[in-house]
Amino acid sequence: MNESILITGANIGLGKDTARQLALKKETKKVILFCRNQAKADAAKRDLEESTEKKVFEIIIGDVSDANSVRKAVEKIKEPIDAVILNAGGMVGKTAAKVTSSGMNELAATNILGHVILVEELIKLDKLKKAVLSVSAEAVPGVKMLGMKPVLMRTSSIDEFAAVLDGSYFGNKFDATQAYGYVKYVVTMWTLSMARKYPKLKFVVMSPGNTKGTLAPNNLPPAMKFMLKYLMMPVVFPLIGGMVHKLEVGAKRLVDGISDERYKSGVFYASKEGKLSGDVVDQSTFFTSLKNTTFQDNADRAIHRFIK
Ligand SMILES: NC(=O)c1ccc[n+]([C@@H]2O[C@H](COP(=O)([O-])OP(=O)(O)OC[C@H]3O[C@@H](n4cnc5c(N)ncnc54)[C@H](OP(=O)(O)O)[C@@H]3O)[C@@H](O)[C@H]2O)c1
Repeated sequence: MNESILITGANIGLGKDTARQLALKKETKKVILFCRNQAKADAAKRDLEESTEKKVFEIIIGDVSDANSVRKAVEKIKEPIDAVILNAGGMVGKTAAKVTSSGMNELAATNILGHVILVEELIKLDKLKKAVLSVSAEAVPGVKMLGMKPVLMRTSSIDEFAAVLDGSYFGNKFDATQAYGYVKYVVTMWTLSMARKYPKLKFVVMSPGNTKGTLAPNNLPPAMKFMLKYLMMPVVFPLIGGMVHKLEVGAKRLVDGISDERYKSGVFYASKEGKLSGDVVDQSTFFTSLKNTTFQDNADRAIHRFIK
């Protein structure tokens, strides 16, 4: 049972609804909204207090794409916390390929850099008691209907993972909709590596599934955004079934992943093969490279090339 939970990217979308659902659990005493913008965080806190009638929310300001910002934020966490949900991220938008001061591109820095620093600093300072949940995506095994190919790395060496992180893996044809799956794969493999390194903590990876009602589509290239908004979401997905769900359903996957003992450390859960909604299953049953512990550790080592 988690009494205190920190959620990154908690001012909107899945992070905010996860905060709402967790606050309504009887055991919850504190929900920390880790956000990069004070005004947005304040507005979310007010809204959450109103909708839940609970005064359990606190704010910590930090930008997960910026190592120093996250280190400063960790200093402000005085009491140990039970659980952390690494949710901030997505496809980032037009600046996804831009290389940040860490050497990672913005897509990787946002989805990975600050999250790794956050968790590792908390562990170092003995401020993390129970569990970590990394938010991944069905983009890792691939989403055929959206033209997202499964992640297929040639060697899964440290160099190859590092090339994904600095963007050189994609040459001069950087396409965030393809790179996104690779970046989520790296953070997934790091999480699985951490599960073995810290057996007393629970490290789970969960995809929220294809979730309506978030701002994520705003960061898609215009053609894909148009196709999703006017064709796939309203017409095609509902016809097929098992392809899309409401915000509360996507957020509940994250809530269950961190709270429910059915979800085990060292496992990446997401929709059944070919689906984007419905029950979640262990992805390694059909995406077998997730089981490779050398690949997992290579992802971890590659990330640390960018952390000074
Ligand atoms: N929606 C889906 O269907 C779906 C499917 C699979 C996986 N996911 C994953 O679920 C997670 C949440 O996505 P969402 O759909 O809820 O997206 P969203 O509505 O765009 O929310 C993203 C959140 O992340 C925050 N964020 C972005 N960059 C940040 C940074 N550098 N530092 C701190 N916070 C930052 C945003 O803050 P600002 O408001 O300040 O930008 C916002 O709070 C992401 O990791 C995404 O990849 C989503």
